[in-house]
Amino acid sequence: MALSVVILAAGSGTRMKSSTPKVLHKICGQELLFYSIETALELSDDVHIVLYHQAQRVQEACEAKFGDRVKFHIQDFENFPGTGGALMNNRALIPTAHSKILILNGDMPLITAPSLQKLLSCSSPVVLGVIESKNPYGYGRVLRQDCKVQAIIEEKDASEEVKKICTINSGIYVFATEVLAKFLPRLDNHNAQKEYYLTDIIKLCVAEGYEIESVELDEEEFSGINDKIQLSSAEEIMLARLREKAMREGVIMHLPSSIYIEKSVRFEGECEIEQGVQIFGETLIKDSHIKAHSTIRDSQIISSDIGPMAHIRPNSYIQKTHIGNFVEVKNSKLYSIKAGHLSYLGDSEIDEGSNIGAGVITCNYDGKQKHKTKIGKNVFVGSDTQLIAPLIIADHTLIGAGSTIRKDSKEGDLLISRSGQKNLENGYFVFFKDKK
Ligand code: UD1
Ligand code: CA
Repeated sequence: MALSVVILAAGSGTRMKSSTPKVLHKICGQELLFYSIETALELSDDVHIVLYHQAQRVQEACEAKFGDRVKFHIQDFENFPGTGGALMNNRALIPTAHSKILILNGDMPLITAPSLQKLLSCSSPVVLGVIESKNPYGYGRVLRQDCKVQAIIEEKDASEEVKKICTINSGIYVFATEVLAKFLPRLDNHNAQKEYYLTDIIKLCVAEGYEIESVELDEEEFSGINDKIQLSSAEEIMLARLREKAMREGVIMHLPSSIYIEKSVRFEGECEIEQGVQIFGETLIKDSHIKAHSTIRDSQIISSDIGPMAHIRPNSYIQKTHIGNFVEVKNSKLYSIKAGHLSYLGDSEIDEGSNIGAGVITCNYDGKQKHKTKIGKNVFVGSDTQLIAPLIIADHTLIGAGSTIRKDSKEGDLLISRSGQKNLENGYFVFFKDKK
């Protein structure tokens, strides 16, 4: 492929007011920068990232996900601050083997590869992505004469007249490699911010007669994230995309605007998701019905119905199972069982045909360690039973309601542990003297 991509991500992101680097903030469970990297990798196998602030932390996060598919560069921020500085004094960043370089920003997660193709299909040596914005404040304004781009003026350097221009620089460019290599060394920092502006390349190109093309881009896709309000708006847009993708693949969603799903969630077969459901992490939902206001995280749900108001916590594998309201499941393998109401099933394995009554609790934690509860086939656990782990309940065990079970069972056992019941005649009227 004749294209290199450089993602600028050295900025500090002060407006995020966070100790987490801006580009590691997440929308729909995935880091902002990872979206840009994924898009870049769709277009090129030569992807470079420029870092400075908390560079090590950002690089480690990227490497954990993308391995050696991306290359990292540290900006000489002290001597060369600014978007132009990010590319200066670094020959490795301008790989002459590729004739074009696409510049992206690490804080624009909503960009899609098809939109970038519009820029890449242009033939000019400099292609500039622009946005017609109702709210141009803070952005570089694009000066044009007879439809031809002349220069980009930053907000802080702009006159009142220039500030009225509503065509803004998206910060996304495609350069012919030789043009970028030629003009980068000529940038200076004679501006309000004392930074090396990449945008100054435009006027240098114009002065030497290079043609500059501008391509209008969609504001929704190309607005960067600078604060937590923009972070939440971007998440809403990403969510709508993820939900639409799921519905196109055959998922039924009721009141989709109330459903939260993360990027890593997968659906297979025929699924139905009701309002207020939240699904996080590495979760697979296959041929299942998730009822209103249930929460599922890092689990697999196959041919099952869950909720309403159930809580499925990490590492649960649930197949052919009915989970009802107010049931919490964690790190458990449930196969072909029913747990209809108000239970906690943690660190458990429950097999085919077993029924878990209302209010059953696996007491998996003894204050020091977690222990497992194993329940065999066709076991009936009466309501309000506490199963004190470690515990193994054999196939065909019947457990009476209200029992506290601490000993393993043999196949066919009936287990019961209750204190005997006393009926005290007229005890009611002794207690409520005034009600006779
Ligand atoms: C830049 C453009 C502006 C454009 C805007 C679009 C310049 C001078 N201005 O604004 O015309 O409208 O983007 O968002 O280019 N970065 C570095 N190193 C630096 C500074 C920034 O890598 O020294 C990275 C940031 O991490 C970010 C991107 O470059 O990903 C844009 O930086 P930002 O400060 O948001 O943009 P501006 O310079 O304000
Ligand atoms: Ca910005």
